[in-house]
Amino acid sequence: MAFSSVDTLDEKEAGAELARLADLLAKANAAYHTEDNPFISDAEYDALKARNAELEARFPQLKRPDSPSDTVGAAPSDGFAKVTHEIAMLSLSNGFDQSDIEDFDQRIRKFLGLGTSARLDYTAEPKIDGLSLSLRYENGALVQAATRGDGSVGENVTANARTISDIPQTLTDAPDVLEVRGEVYMSHEDFDALNQNQKNRGGKLFANPRNAAAGSLRQLDPEITRSRPLKFFAYAWGALSEPLGETQTASLARLNALGFVTNPMTRLCAGTAELLSHYTKIEQARATLGYDIDGVVYKVDDLSFQRRLGFRSTTPRWAIAHKFPAELAWTRLEAIDIQVGRTGAMSPVARLHPVTVGGVVVSNATLHNEDYIAGKDNKGGTIRGGKDIRVGDWVQVYRAGDVIPKVADVDLSKRPKDATPFAFPETCPQCNSAAIREEGDAVRRCTGGLICPAQAVEKLKHFVSRAAFDIEGLGSKQVEQFYADGWIKEPADIFLLREGFGSGVRQLKNREGWGEKSASNLFDAIDDKRRISLGRLIFALGIRHVGEAASNLLAQHYGSFAAFEKAMNDAQELCGPAWEDLIGIDGVGEVMATSLVRSMGQPAERGSIDRLVAQLDVQDAARPKLEGSPVAGKTVVFTGTLEKMTRAEAKARAEALGAKVSGSVSAKTDLLVAGPGAGSKAQKAAQLGIETLDEDGWLELIAGI
Ligand code: IVH
Repeated sequence: MAFSSVDTLDEKEAGAELARLADLLAKANAAYHTEDNPFISDAEYDALKARNAELEARFPQLKRPDSPSDTVGAAPSDGFAKVTHEIAMLSLSNGFDQSDIEDFDQRIRKFLGLGTSARLDYTAEPKIDGLSLSLRYENGALVQAATRGDGSVGENVTANARTISDIPQTLTDAPDVLEVRGEVYMSHEDFDALNQNQKNRGGKLFANPRNAAAGSLRQLDPEITRSRPLKFFAYAWGALSEPLGETQTASLARLNALGFVTNPMTRLCAGTAELLSHYTKIEQARATLGYDIDGVVYKVDDLSFQRRLGFRSTTPRWAIAHKFPAELAWTRLEAIDIQVGRTGAMSPVARLHPVTVGGVVVSNATLHNEDYIAGKDNKGGTIRGGKDIRVGDWVQVYRAGDVIPKVADVDLSKRPKDATPFAFPETCPQCNSAAIREEGDAVRRCTGGLICPAQAVEKLKHFVSRAAFDIEGLGSKQVEQFYADGWIKEPADIFLLREGFGSGVRQLKNREGWGEKSASNLFDAIDDKRRISLGRLIFALGIRHVGEAASNLLAQHYGSFAAFEKAMNDAQELCGPAWEDLIGIDGVGEVMATSLVRSMGQPAERGSIDRLVAQLDVQDAARPKLEGSPVAGKTVVFTGTLEKMTRAEAKARAEALGAKVSGSVSAKTDLLVAGPGAGSKAQKAAQLGIETLDEDGWLELIAGI
């Protein structure tokens, strides 16, 4: 495509060209997104958009109401209705070697109070590399299909799922309510044919079968999904009006009998030795299965054990994914850059000569921290036999699953003669503040705090990220631009954007890449998030050590922002009742608590939080579903020997019912559960007049909830 210089055009010519571009780009968009049949390449499309922007910059008065600059190129993500999963769709924890699997088995035995030699059966089945889907049947009819989304809210893709031939539309003799969960995937053969077809039509090629499956399922037009050969394996279930069986094996057999495809390589294994030998079988079969798998999933077979084991915040205790080893490749390390994170951590990043690892081109990899580069672990021992990493070295890179690529090894025989050891900077490359490594910290950190532009911008990116405020249309790229232009400096400024840049001289709609509609959509999307749950807000603050799960625990514990704030004020001295209460929360350790209290007490940081909260309507935390729980909100202490359950199980169950489990008896204790051999705690409880039950009394109290 050759264009004449915009300076040689007069208004009439420019107007005519803008009209042609608007028409052409609208057709290109429809062909790409809706008809899935693009007629120009991505590069040509980008060149047309750039030309359009150039003309609009030179002749702003000619910008059209239907300007292509105001349409977003990506497939609309609000194209699907949202579905709240009745039972969350969880992920799996990972294991990588034999010892991880043995530890998994030991943890389960300990939790259930089974000896090391008692028989404990597991199922082992391939971990399909696709995307999970939940199918809801009511009275035998498929009524809804939803993607996993963030685990609690997914996308409604029912019309698309109906086009997949492995998914039955109706079932006979099924429970009245049945949610079947499994993986949508594309076979290698179908993937190759699809890409060949895309190539012939000049369309976009998919990087791998997983992306092709995801792209095909998430089409707004179900007819496109129908034309893509998707398949489905059932491996789990959600809501049920009656059980499918008493074991995992029986439940899968039932799903199979109902008409679902279950994986033929699923086996029942008695103990870890059999699991590991089935893993080897599946690994050997991997190349000939005809579809991608990335590991083997082990699940406790007995469903009553599964129920007792329950869940951690995002993963079941009764299952694990045993991942296949990562793929490896050698390439040259071209440079080491330092990135500064939201907590000031300086992370070295390897800039690599691009290399393909497991089907994906890799040009960056993490180098973790300065010790890792120097060939040391954080306890002073050596790694990689003590070999350091230098710019110019040949390095071995690997990827495991979706994680960021890493550098595993160095080939000293190829080291250039003039390569020098990497000198880790002692000042921040962004703000020049001193970079200090504190005792016990694996990383060096910039001490600039909010004056460091890198920290400020990273904090803002975290703030708008998916698990935090998740503002549609406001991603990392937009945050970086707004920050660079001084439009937003801290989270509160996001909520002042409409006020500052909705009208007047400097308006968002006049910025390159924005228009009337996209600007007002963004302001609306921001307003939508003024109402926010307490857990999301705490997570969004980006306080070091305070992750998503911990934020939700804190929210549930304190209930409201006012209570949370007061507790943080009261805990400033890192002692006293508010502090004890904070570190008493299961899942909150001293390191996290200290970081939290320090951040909330640091004047600049606190000022920024207060300005933010003034813009919001923070929703009190909903207590977990505890209807009928007799111990909700109570403090329970277990002592003595428990005979029908382990201590870990008793604690997990009590917490699931909304109780707080404490290790010692005090005036705050509501209930003591005492088994045989209870000593001083039982005496103290008696003195304080605290209700005491034995194990059977406890089980009776909580029976049936
Ligand atoms: S069981 C509560 N079984 O892996 C556990 N998951 O990394 C439910 N996956 O989100 C999952 N094959 O999308 C299970 N045989 C299998 C699987 C499998 C693939 C996916 C699934 C899940 C992810 C977790």
